[in-house]
Amino acid sequence: MADAAAKPLSSKHQAGEGRSSRPLDLVADFPAIPDGWAYLDTAATAQKPRAVIDAIARGYSETYATVHRGVYQRSAEMTLAFEAARRRTARFIGARAAEEVIFVRGATEGINLVAKSWGATFLRPGDRIMLSTLEHHSNIVPWQMVAAETGAEIDVAPLTRDGRIDLDAMASTLTERHRIVALAHVSNVLGSVLDAKRAAALAHGAGALLLLDGCQAVPRMPVDVAALDCDFYVFSGHKLYGPTGIGVLWGRSALLEAMPPWQGGGAMIDKVSFERTTYAPPPARFEPGTPHVVGVLGLEAAIDYVEAIGLDAVAAHEAALVGEARRALSALNSVRLFGPEDGAGIVSFAVEGVHAHDVGTILDESRVAIRAGHHCAQPLMAALGVEATARASFGVYNGPRDVESLVRGIERVRRIFG
Ligand SMILES: Cc1ncc(COP(=O)(O)O)c(C=O)c1O
Repeated sequence: MADAAAKPLSSKHQAGEGRSSRPLDLVADFPAIPDGWAYLDTAATAQKPRAVIDAIARGYSETYATVHRGVYQRSAEMTLAFEAARRRTARFIGARAAEEVIFVRGATEGINLVAKSWGATFLRPGDRIMLSTLEHHSNIVPWQMVAAETGAEIDVAPLTRDGRIDLDAMASTLTERHRIVALAHVSNVLGSVLDAKRAAALAHGAGALLLLDGCQAVPRMPVDVAALDCDFYVFSGHKLYGPTGIGVLWGRSALLEAMPPWQGGGAMIDKVSFERTTYAPPPARFEPGTPHVVGVLGLEAAIDYVEAIGLDAVAAHEAALVGEARRALSALNSVRLFGPEDGAGIVSFAVEGVHAHDVGTILDESRVAIRAGHHCAQPLMAALGVEATARASFGVYNGPRDVESLVRGIERVRRIFG
């Protein structure tokens, strides 16, 4: 379980093989993907490999117990496994210490934790928060809430013409009043990849912290929080081929230690009396209540799974699919593509004269599953001048055949709409 060697991959692709230039062929690892179904909605949530499903089943059917409290052996063993999974997660993202990894329900909860704890404690009236036009609502709304509470104000970095966060423009807007910069590492709509090191240098140069929303980055490329030099990093397990209901907030130790708890309950305390309660150090301070024990084991199995493939291989695989999809879609002259050529794993587009929802519904009839809508990024939709886009997003189980199904499906959409 904990610190375990990588779980077996499908017979076609053993660990490390993915580092070659051959495309990945892993769909056999995913029991919920039937033959002929092109699942192109991984940016919303990834399908689960057998190794993750088995780890979850084992967690409930063989090793299940609570953690941190039981005096009996099963609970002690589960506690060891749970904390080993925390160490595994820390290594996966290049964290210096396991105590810097806080298990949360997902990226949304991780950002809310930082906003409600760090933000509510350290932001003052007149302080400024820097976001960008392409943020997911979960990296906008928590900051609006804490801004309303504290009197801080929000600035929004614009995008370049090809849909990246415009760091030159951000640099010219940053002042010493900015206390935090919170940006998507990879856009969930455009796939654009942030130059995170430069964002960190700019934020720190102004005396601000940098929070990265890594939801779409962690499943698609190697992430090392020390090399990125950010201060907080969040991601969700379910987008990394792991279970729902589990995610990670990483924060620098010194920051976490200075932050108060944002929710109270069991497991996060040092001592409780009606006169005075003191709190446990991080990470326990931020993990009140019984944690998602089996979710953590599933997350660990997902980390094992992607690391056995190699995140460089995943990035190369998805880059090839994005390239093929963009080439084929742009050859259809009524399709408008959004975002940069080198978007990570995600292609957003519009078919002239056809609502994105109709595109999605017609594609579904051809067994192609895409996402259509505002993708929880309404300010970005406004900046693009559209209400919605169609979005195809790739995972390790996709291949050239899925791109062909997508393109054939779009041709059918054009035939239906004349
Ligand atoms: C970039 C980005 N940030 C945050 C989130 C929120 O993730 P979750 O709903 O798992 O908390 C998502 C989910 O779509 C996302 O794509």
